[in-house]
Amino acid sequence: MYYPEELIEEVRMKNDIVDVISGYVRLQKKGSSYFGLCPFHNEKSPSFSVSAGKQMYYCFGCGAGGNVITFIMEYENFSFQEALKFLADRAGVKLPEIEYSKEAREKADLRSTILEMNKLAAKYFYAQLKASQGEVGHRYLRERELTEETITAFGLGYSNKYSDDLYKYLRTKGYSEDLIRQAGLINTDEKHGVYDKFWNRVMFPIMDINNRVIGFGGRVMGDGKPKYLNSPETLVFDKSRNLYGLNRARTSRKSYFIVCEGYMDVIALHQAGFTNAIASLGTALTSGHASLIKRYVNEVYLTYDSDEAGTKAALRAVPLMKEVGIAAKVIRMEPYKDPDEFIKNLGAEAFEERIGKARNGFMFSLEMLEKNYDMDSPEGKTSFFNEVADKLLTFEDDLERNNYIEAIAKAYHISFDSLQKLTAKRAIQKGLAKQVSRPRKTVSREKEDGSLKSQKILLTWMIDSKHLFGVIKKYISPEDFTTELYRTVARLLYEQYDSGEINPAKIMNHFTAEEEHHMVASLFHTKIQELTTKEEKEKALLETILKVKTQSLEEATKKLDPTDMVGLQQLMNAKRSLEDLRKLHISID
Ligand code: CTP
Ligand code: MN
Repeated sequence: MYYPEELIEEVRMKNDIVDVISGYVRLQKKGSSYFGLCPFHNEKSPSFSVSAGKQMYYCFGCGAGGNVITFIMEYENFSFQEALKFLADRAGVKLPEIEYSKEAREKADLRSTILEMNKLAAKYFYAQLKASQGEVGHRYLRERELTEETITAFGLGYSNKYSDDLYKYLRTKGYSEDLIRQAGLINTDEKHGVYDKFWNRVMFPIMDINNRVIGFGGRVMGDGKPKYLNSPETLVFDKSRNLYGLNRARTSRKSYFIVCEGYMDVIALHQAGFTNAIASLGTALTSGHASLIKRYVNEVYLTYDSDEAGTKAALRAVPLMKEVGIAAKVIRMEPYKDPDEFIKNLGAEAFEERIGKARNGFMFSLEMLEKNYDMDSPEGKTSFFNEVADKLLTFEDDLERNNYIEAIAKAYHISFDSLQKLTAKRAIQKGLAKQVSRPRKTVSREKEDGSLKSQKILLTWMIDSKHLFGVIKKYISPEDFTTELYRTVARLLYEQYDSGEINPAKIMNHFTAEEEHHMVASLFHTKIQELTTKEEKEKALLETILKVKTQSLEEATKKLDPTDMVGLQQLMNAKRSLEDLRKLHISID
């Protein structure tokens, strides 16, 4: 930790959460809380709540939550330290400089220096495009039917024919050769010395979600090779964590994104009114991208090139999306190559129609699969349906799987029963009869969630009601929480209880590593079933306490040294009290 907790707490207290969030989200007061549209996912009715009393926020839709620092981290894509600095500045609190470790400060400085250089470079390219030497680039973009408005909105530019003018320009601004290299803007070789990475290209600045320029794509004006040149990965440019157009698409307030392949496609779509279009940055879509998209929408329309490569890319993207819970549909562009050409030829309305006709991603993948089999021969058909059955096994949910079986049965003129039987048979053959295939990772994660869920629920109850805290405290101690993180949180909460003030927003200050910080935020917001009667509440409370206690004893048993007689005795006693507890009626009065 770089700063003392008191200082973090001071910054937090001087930034009222309702004030801060109001700067980003329109909030309306309802009862003791404020509600608004969640900025972290797309929604039409407000499920994002901010509690002035607790100084915490929580979204019932997507589960985002935390204190004011968490909010700034999430919204601005900041680290804990960056968010703290931002809020300290906002409230006029001076943070001591020296508290940063030298290494951390250097890295943060380098990051912001690269961002500064990128911004200057983008402005430079833009100015060149508008100047006479950029005429050729400007004409090229106009020929591709981009309006001045679009060119400005996307900050498009032109890199001059000279091979080192950006380099010289940045040097006059005081940046060293080494820094300019770290921004990925120059190359060096023996023959040419130092030269600009981009020259004689139209330039596409790549923005992160906060509109900071993190890299560039440059296109030759004509048929030269390579057609596109992209910035290398740098300290600020991570291709697997960013998407082109996301800075604009995320505020489009549509319930889905249109995912395409290229910069020009995104721009053409935005210009035609489809402001929810995004693309990956010259790389294939990864599961990291899928998780990023999932923060905003639950549905995507894939509109990849009509060629074989585009089809393959779409086929790969469908399961990636499904994995994170995004439904994917596929829009085809035939007879054109890509959305850009489609819109140029047929216009926005025709594209809208294609959206309406988009095919379900799974059904699309079957249509493509079909091409690999001779559907006129019985053997070919059998092999095809075997593979279809195998694919059906990837659905965990029976209802969803049956819906697909029904759709396939209809589309391929076979009976529902026979396809269902075939699927069951394949499952048994593959040894999946009990539980239909599911990636290992998820299973263990869910299992873990299962056993930790009761602990989370207890924590949520404890911060919700001081009275319940008092009841729980009689049976559960911080040591009963089975992971280090939960134990620490519990310890801090118990301390607060003893000092008379329960303040979860303050506890979050303790956790400054991003991952931990988010995990703790989620601890305080576990969904609890609505319990109406007192009996229900008491029953649920007893059950949860028993579960937590049982887990705690199981852990202790696992860890016990068999020669530790005292420990053994203590454990036996604890087990006996647990049995007594089972018979107990917990009263919440
Ligand atoms: N791409 C790349 N390097 C290349 C070719 C393509 O990085 N040599 C990336 C770019 O991000 C590009 C995307 O792949 O935007 C799609 O490529 P392609 O379909 O060839 O380009 P279009 O977007 O159709 O480009 P244009 O319309 O300008 O020809
Ligand atoms: Mn194109």
